Amino acid sequence: MGKQARAIVDLNLKELVKDLNKAYCDEWLAFYLYWYMAQTVSGRAYEDMQEMLNKIAKDELEHAGELADLITKLGDVPVANLTELEKNANAPYMMPPKNSADINRIIRIVTEAEAQAIDVYNKIAKKTQGKDHNTYQLITHILSEEISHEEMFENLQER
Ligand SMILES: [Fe+2]
Ligand SMILES: [Fe+2]
Repeated sequence: MGKQARAIVDLNLKELVKDLNKAYCDEWLAFYLYWYMAQTVSGRAYEDMQEMLNKIAKDELEHAGELADLITKLGDVPVANLTELEKNANAPYMMPPKNSADINRIIRIVTEAEAQAIDVYNKIAKKTQGKDHNTYQLITHILSEEISHEEMFENLQER
């Protein structure tokens, strides 16, 4: 991102990057959690759950990549140290269920994680609206995907 592009950002860049980095860490935790549950899920109809978890894991990894790209363009660096990911995240890592066949628990975990993600991106969207168009655009794109993730799993809960 060029000088002028950074100059028109009407926000404290350091603070903005801090928020983006926290979201970046959240995405890695979410990716790992969903990927892990996809690999280990068992029991009846496990294949459907595996497919959904793998799909969402892929989306979260994509979000991490998009945020890393944006942070870099803003002239900063995404968190480099793996052990710093959890420390810098907005919420602690949620443990996968002990019983890998506990589909209801998996659904509750995902629904909660997605609700947290929606809150995080809603806050960043409000902060950046009209202040940093580029960030706002990416954040609302990610937010709309988190909204559909929540919906997918909320619908399962109602069954
Ligand atoms: Fe995400
Ligand atoms: Fe998500």
